[in-house]
Amino acid sequence: MSNTREELIRTEKLQKIFVVGGGFARSKLVAVDDVNFHVNKDEIFTLAGESGCGKSTVSKMLLGFLEPNEGKVYYKGEDISNLKKWKDKKGFMKEVQSIFQNPFETFNPLRKVDSYLYDTQKHYGMNHKGRVVEESLEAVGLDISEVKGRYPNEFSGGQLQRISIARALITRPSLLVADEPVSMVDASLRMSIVNLFKELRDKRHVSVLYITHDLATAYYVSDRIGIMFRGNIIEMGDVEDVLMNPKHPYTQMLKESIPEADPKKKWTERISIKELETEEYMRKGCKFAGRCPYVMEKCKDNMPEEISVENRMVRCWLYE
Ligand SMILES: Nc1ncnc2c1ncn2[C@@H]1O[C@H](COP(=O)(O)OP(=O)(O)OP(=O)(O)O)[C@@H](O)[C@H]1O
Ligand code: SF4
Ligand SMILES: [Mg+2]
Repeated sequence: MSNTREELIRTEKLQKIFVVGGGFARSKLVAVDDVNFHVNKDEIFTLAGESGCGKSTVSKMLLGFLEPNEGKVYYKGEDISNLKKWKDKKGFMKEVQSIFQNPFETFNPLRKVDSYLYDTQKHYGMNHKGRVVEESLEAVGLDISEVKGRYPNEFSGGQLQRISIARALITRPSLLVADEPVSMVDASLRMSIVNLFKELRDKRHVSVLYITHDLATAYYVSDRIGIMFRGNIIEMGDVEDVLMNPKHPYTQMLKESIPEADPKKKWTERISIKELETEEYMRKGCKFAGRCPYVMEKCKDNMPEEISVENRMVRCWLYE
């Protein structure tokens, strides 16, 4: 793991509890628990996991949209909960930009898309940067003449997602937080969008927190990866180590579900078992104990700690 590199953002012991159900069925769901990771400068870090494992909840806390019950987020060493003044919050938002899943929801269908780009430029006081809109579009492979005066419905999902990335680049951010940015994009265009993240990292020194349930794009684009399961990161390290030589029984199961000959096959096709979600979330010990082939007595009552093994972190009692 590359600990010597400059760190941009770090989470420490992040926890989020939701109250779910009503009446007598009301209960607490610890949707995110003890989540610790960081994103370095010039790095693509991926948080991957099946639907409902807590990825978006982590990203919302990281962006300051949602308050954690426990834990902290540090951006360039500063606790973001200390950013009280509007000016400081705006400064953080300028450096940490987000990209959402559905570009058609990012843009109002009745507004020309270029107006968003110019408004963002104005909002963040980037007016002195003459060609910032044009340059941001060029960075995503588009020319202003292809965009000017056109409405969202005149673009494909892939083109519109490129435009929303261009909009995010206007503030010259250090970090993009991209929550499932390609899941609404045509399968044939997904790789070209994730390729763009690599280009932005290499040419513009933009780091990316890529959030996805798609292991194929995750493997292709990431420098490091954290695998989430029911609110915890259960394995984290360099992408090659974690996905090609997984140590956690859950990651091992994931790897088997993506045959090397067909990396496009998604885990969700085989192992997304929605009914199990609540039961597993409520487990006291290891959340994977109900499905783990190596389960031991200890696993049932004790949540595994973060254990360092072969160049990565694993949360599993097998490696104690
Ligand atoms: N506002 C909320 N109130 C109650 N429960 C919530 C809330 N937001 C999320 N949850 C629950 O927390 C868990 C984690 O949800 P989250 O949206 O973070 O998962 P995710 O990994 O982003 O899933 P997906 O891949 O479907 O986007 C889920 O069980 C979800 O139902
Ligand atoms: S802690 Fe126990 S149940 Fe959990 S993954 Fe490891 S061996 Fe399996
Ligand atoms: Mg989500």
